[in-house]
Formats: sequence, C-alpha cells, structure tokens
Amino acid sequence: MAVTIRDVAEQAGVSIATASRVLTGSKNVSADLVARVDESARELGYRHNAVARALRRGCTNTVGMIVPEIGNPFFPAIVEAVERRLQTTGRDLLLCDSQQDPAIEHSRVMALVDRQVDGLIIVPVSATESHTAMEKAVGHTPIVQIDRYVEEFAADWVGVDDELGISQTVEHVASLGARTMAMVSATLDSSAALRRHAGFEKALTRLGLPLDGPRLLGTFRAEWGRVAACQLLESGSLPDAIICGNDEIAVGLLGELRRNQIRVPQDVLVTGFDDIRFAEMTDPPLTTVRQPHEQLASEALRLLDARIAQHDLPVQRISVAPSLVVRQSTEGHA
Ligand code: RIB
Repeated sequence: MAVTIRDVAEQAGVSIATASRVLTGSKNVSADLVARVDESARELGYRHNAVARALRRGCTNTVGMIVPEIGNPFFPAIVEAVERRLQTTGRDLLLCDSQQDPAIEHSRVMALVDRQVDGLIIVPVSATESHTAMEKAVGHTPIVQIDRYVEEFAADWVGVDDELGISQTVEHVASLGARTMAMVSATLDSSAALRRHAGFEKALTRLGLPLDGPRLLGTFRAEWGRVAACQLLESGSLPDAIICGNDEIAVGLLGELRRNQIRVPQDVLVTGFDDIRFAEMTDPPLTTVRQPHEQLASEALRLLDARIAQHDLPVQRISVAPSLVVRQSTEGHA
C-alpha cells in the first residue's frame, strides 16, 4: 500500500495541509516543521508524485538534452558534465540520441517539449537541416546549443573555436617540417565539420603551404578513419601529416597505418580533435585539440538558466578557446 500524505502528517504530528505544503516545496513553512515532515517522509518511504508536483509548480525540474551520437566518446563527456551540474540544483536530465539524423532529432525535440522540460540543451546534427526542429522547439521551451550550432538561427550557443583548434594542429605539424597535408574529417553538414575544414584551408593559406592535398570527408567515426587510411595508402604517396577532424577518426586511421607497417610519427604525423579519454592510450598516444567539457557544460547551463528566468534575453554566442595537447603521434619526429 503506497504511503500517503496523510500517513506522513500523522507520523510528523502536523496537519495534512502542512505536510502537503512541505512535500510540494512550498516556501512558507518553518524550518522545524519542514525537518519533521521530511524525516517522517523518509522513514515511511513516501514518494511524491513528480507529475502532480510539476503541474502544481508549473515546472518539471527536468532539462532535456539531445546529442547526435551517444556512442561517440566526446558526447558522454559533455552529458556527464551537464548531468552532474543539474544534480547540484536538484534537477534531472532527460537524454535523447538523434542518431545523426535530422528527422529523428525533430521527433526527439518534440518528445522532450511534450514532456514540458524546463529547457533544452542540444547539439544540432546539421548546420542547416536542424533548423526546422529548432524553430518548432524555440516557441515552447528555452534552448541552448552546445558544441555545434544551426546557421542563421537566433539561439544561444557555446562551443570551442573549431577554426582555431584545427589551425593549432596545422601550425604544430608545420613547425615540425610538414609541408604536404591531408584532412580526414566528416562531410560538411555539421558546424563542427564546416568550421574545422575552413580552419584547415585558412591555416594552409596563411602558412603558404600547398592546398592540393587530399580531403577525405565521411563520418566522425573510427571506421571512416580506417577507410580513409586505405585510400591514402592506395594512392601510393602519404602526405607529411594527416589532420583528423576528431579523435575517433584518428583511432581508426592509426590502426590501419599500423597494420600496413606505417610508422607514426616517423613516416607521417597524425593529429585528432576532442581529446577523448582514450586519446592518450592510442599507439602512439595522439596529439589532439582539447575541448573543455566542464567549461562548455557550465556555460551552457548558465545560459539556459538565464533564459529560463527571462525568455527575451539577447542571444549569446560564447566561443571557448581550445588547447593543443602534444603527444607522441607528432612528437619525436625523426
Ligand atoms: O567527435 C564528434 C565531433 O562532433 C566532436 O568533435 C564534437 O565537436 C562534435 O561536434
């Protein structure tokens, strides 16, 4: 038999009205009564009805989050940082995976809106095709974009400066003598892929380096790194350096190079982007660009809470500086 408010009130020696005010988070109850009622509720194992409480309060104490690929190690790091912060303010996270598909993303956005989340943090799949889902959602709930963004869409955003991050890797390998470079990344659908590719081109131009190197664009997955390595090897000539759009690609590429007895960094330099926790465990450990997960999560929630409190705030776009992490995939270059 479920424990009721009446049971809690009797145990605490207060009226049902007082017990109800305490259990529904009402402000005008003395600390002593709150402590007595809460203690009784804990002793009896009382579980409040979250849906009923949300209807009364007009807020659900939940935040929705949508990421494009929960299996990619970059995203769990961001989700974990957001979830931990929400817990400190007694809020819960509802997480969805849009599976890199704007149509799925749209249905997930609407499902979270229907559950009356207090706000939505999203990594949009596509810089263009995610526009519809975002337009639909922004009319119902506060939204903050994290990591990626939708072009020409007025919503808060926080993410790393992707162009700067890739420029750091190009300038790093150029400082080691690399002249010919290939880029292995994802097709230019997401803002991350678009900005990193632009950063690659601009850095080569700025350094006066050849722009005719291979651009192998597929997915942000390790399998694409493996396939791209095969294509580079089949071409018969490796560049001095391979700039990967993210660490997962670099993991797949390093494995295929090793299987073909290609030495890194001696024969070719390799860099990644993200600094996932496995980046230091690859063989050789991967030079990459660190994305500050904690700072991104903290900024995203600061923006979201500000917009929940005041919906008509001016839109903010916060670009966070990435940092180059040099490891053996470029160090000790013979
Ligand atoms: O690894 C997946 C990539 O897509 C990351 O670099 C992240 O920035 C996301 O946008």
